[in-house]
Formats: sequence, C-alpha cells, structure tokens
Amino acid sequence: MTGSGSTAVADAWNGPVGAHWAEHHTRYDAMLAEFDDALFAAASIGERDRVLDVGCGSGLTTRLAGHRAARGQVTGVDISAPLLDRARSLTDGRELPHVGYVLADARLHPFPAGAYDVVISRGGVMFFADHVAAFTNIARGVRAGGRLALLCPQPGLPDGEERAALGRLAALAGQDRPVQGELAAAMASLSEPSRIREVLAGAGFADVDVNGETRRSCWGRDAPDAVGFYLSRTPGPTVPDATRREMAAVLRPYESGRGVLLGAGVWIVTARRP
Ligand SMILES: C[S@@+](CC[C@H](N)C(=O)[O-])C[C@H]1O[C@@H](n2cnc3c(N)ncnc32)[C@H](O)[C@@H]1O
Repeated sequence: MTGSGSTAVADAWNGPVGAHWAEHHTRYDAMLAEFDDALFAAASIGERDRVLDVGCGSGLTTRLAGHRAARGQVTGVDISAPLLDRARSLTDGRELPHVGYVLADARLHPFPAGAYDVVISRGGVMFFADHVAAFTNIARGVRAGGRLALLCPQPGLPDGEERAALGRLAALAGQDRPVQGELAAAMASLSEPSRIREVLAGAGFADVDVNGETRRSCWGRDAPDAVGFYLSRTPGPTVPDATRREMAAVLRPYESGRGVLLGAGVWIVTARRP
C-alpha cells in the first residue's frame, strides 16, 4: 500500500470498522443509497470520463461510476484492505473491465498528474490526517477544468431524527455516543461548510459549492433488526434482552414499509480545478 501511515483511523479501517463495513456492505449501501442520486447528479459523469472514487470502500459508487463512464476509466482508492478485497470481489471484470482499485492513502498516493476528469467520494474524505495536504495531493491528479463531487455528513441536529434516536440507543446500551473515539472526530471533521470551503480553497480548488440534502436512511428491516445492526457496530458487553427491547421501542416510531427510516442530512460539495 502507498503511504501506510499508521494512524488510529487507518487502523480502524483496516481492523474492526473496515471488517464490519465489508461484512455489512449491503446494509451500508442501503443506508447511503438515498443520497446517490444527488451525488451523481452533482458529478455529472460523462461516457468517456476518467473518474477517481476516493475512499471507495466496497465500491458501489465506483461501479455506478463505471456504468456511467462506460467508455472511460474508473479507479477506486481506499486505505482499507478488507474493504478493497470486498470491492474487487463485487466487481465483474467482464462487465466493468475499465474499473479498478488501488490500496493507498489518498493523502499520499502519487496519482498520475492530470489523470482524472472527475473525483467523487461518498463519505470517504473526512478521515484524512491533514485535509489540505490530502486535497492538494488529489488536485494534482485532476486535469485543469476537472471537478470534484463529494458527500460529507452534516452535523446531526440535536433534534434531528438520526442523531436523537442513535443518542438514545447509545445511552440505553451504556455507550458514550454512537460512534466512538477518533473515528467520531474524523466523521465530523468536514461537517461545517466554512471548513469545507477553507480546505478546498487551500488545496487550490475553485467554485466551491456546498448544498444540503436531507433524506431518510434505512437502518434495518424492523426495529429489532436495526438494534441488532446498531449493536454489531460497537462490540462490547452483551446487552440484555430487556435493554434490546427498550432500544427497539425507541426505533418503533420510525418503522415503515421500507424499513426503519431515520432522517439525516449530508452536504453535496462540488468544486473545480482551475
Ligand atoms: C464512511 S466509509 C465510505 C465508503 C464508501 N465510499 C461508501 O460509500 O460505501 C469511508 C471510507 O474512507 C476510507 N478512507 C479513510 N481514510 C482514507 C484515506 N486516507 N485514503 C483513502 N481512503 C480512506 C475508509 O477505508 C472507508 O472505506
């Protein structure tokens, strides 16, 4: 791997967190699927575009980009070996021969200069140790006039459905918060539009636009299923059945014919390399 800086965040994506995302990729894709239309509308990928998907994880967006850039090239880059293994196993080389993956830290990887028309990322750009350095490195790979389309999480509003419900689940399970430690800080590191603008301008991007999108993310088939998934993300002492039932009661109001849906917001960010 290029630039395997051993940070706690990189270790998490190569350890239990990456393994969880790889095992439950279908569920994570379902959670994020509601935002895909907005991301791909912003990316406006053309048939011959050369696309880089940063922090591609198990690669659904890389493959979706591959279908759009049917006569181009699509590369997914990710720091997580378990997730890239999953991405490779899910990518049919006969159907998408122009889609490939690179195991690397996008902050340090020597991307070929000017090699990409479009850079996309569905939630893969918040985890860099140094955001300006990372986007400066990525910018080198973007041709003049090329563009970025990124999804970053909004800060959960205190009264927002997802944040409120997950906060109550965490309290019942005896956890400080739904996502622990350095990963939580990294997740929130590009949640403020002013910070996003500062980082991208600092890396030399122009025409930065930040648009809010709110959707309902699916956390499970029904409340008990969503509780099981929630607890599987944060392994710890066994949670008694009575507590699980209390947790399921928190989610019951959000059950629908399409599963447990919790409202959440993201920023869709676009920018251009001058
Ligand atoms: C929230 S997941 C999103 C994964 C994928 N984009 C998706 O939508 O399913 C964040 C991804 O960013 C990757 N990542 C974190 N730091 C990275 C870095 N420095 N370089 C490349 N990928 C990184 C993680 O390994 C993980 O796959």
